[in-house]
Amino acid sequence: MNGFERRRFLQKTLAAAAALSLSSITPSHAAITLETIRGRSPMRKGPVKQALVTWYSQTGMTERIGRLVAKRLEKSGATVFFDDMRSVDAARMKGMDLIVVGSPVFYYDTPDYVKRFIQTLPDLTGTPVAAYVTFGGPEGNQHNAACNILAALSDKGAVPVGLRSFMNMSTFPLAWSEKKVHHKTWMNRNLPDAHTYEEARRYAAHLVNQVASGTAFVAKRNLTLREMATWVRPIWWTKKLVRNHGIDQKVCIGCGLCEEKCPAGAIDIGAFTIDRHVCELCFGCINNCPVQAVTMNYNGERVFGYPEFMKRKKLSIIEPEEVQKTPA
Ligand SMILES: Cc1cc2nc3c(=O)[nH]c(=O)nc-3n(C[C@H](O)[C@H](O)[C@H](O)COP(=O)(O)O)c2cc1C
Repeated sequence: MNGFERRRFLQKTLAAAAALSLSSITPSHAAITLETIRGRSPMRKGPVKQALVTWYSQTGMTERIGRLVAKRLEKSGATVFFDDMRSVDAARMKGMDLIVVGSPVFYYDTPDYVKRFIQTLPDLTGTPVAAYVTFGGPEGNQHNAACNILAALSDKGAVPVGLRSFMNMSTFPLAWSEKKVHHKTWMNRNLPDAHTYEEARRYAAHLVNQVASGTAFVAKRNLTLREMATWVRPIWWTKKLVRNHGIDQKVCIGCGLCEEKCPAGAIDIGAFTIDRHVCELCFGCINNCPVQAVTMNYNGERVFGYPEFMKRKKLSIIEPEEVQKTPA
């Protein structure tokens, strides 16, 4: 880093730290609305005969809830198409009676990949749409992140019918190290649980009712200090704090999972390289590598991914009965 970069880094870090520390003293009732999100065209109401559920998921949390919502919609009599955003056929979205989009919260925001995905969708005028986010919080601006999804879908002409946030253990690898685990991450080590799954089922049933009765949902994106923190791009300063992000050729088995999971196309597994300028620091590579060949250092310690963390701490997730398959 040169002198200019260092000054900008310090300025951004201080602004973010100030925003984060002030969040604890913000009265919850003092909400300032940044954006009101509503459908701009009449909603197609009626029974949900065909629905599509799609998610972006790096470690399976958002996928699990998406599959559960899909199964519950099927139980209501709908034919449901469900898949990861990377595999879903966007053209299929036209003519759906309900579309549900799920995303994790990354850096207090909706990941860029999800925003880009929604931009590629066809015109969805009148289509009922719902959003959900999974997050590791307790803080995390999750309501606003879910609002961003609805706002982008509403720009496509779709009509919001619901929004939900589901808390689970964070999969953010900088939250743990060899020596310690962030207490908020540890606090949520048993989530998702049966209550989370029941909430997801209820949400799906609620969406069916919303569409049947033609009841639109109006979302408000509020000014929060964590929303302000997104303005200084926390990803930018986090990137400055990690070192040695690469692939250890000696350990790599060439399975290509890291390249497949990278939402930014930053990995060339043939050349064992990661383009750090393109990288969105989602940790998808570290969180999915089966042999820990992806290297990274933080605070002078080696970073290890979510499956390895779960293994070391002897933790596991109890799957909902309807969901047979979820990746580790
Ligand atoms: C890069 C990254 C950034 C994250 N940022 C936040 C955050 O700002 N707020 C929050 O509550 N959780 C955050 N988390 C936790 C995730 O939102 C949470 O673990 C999510 O359920 C992961 O979903 P997935 O398994 O479907 O990818 C972050 C996790 C990662 C990997």
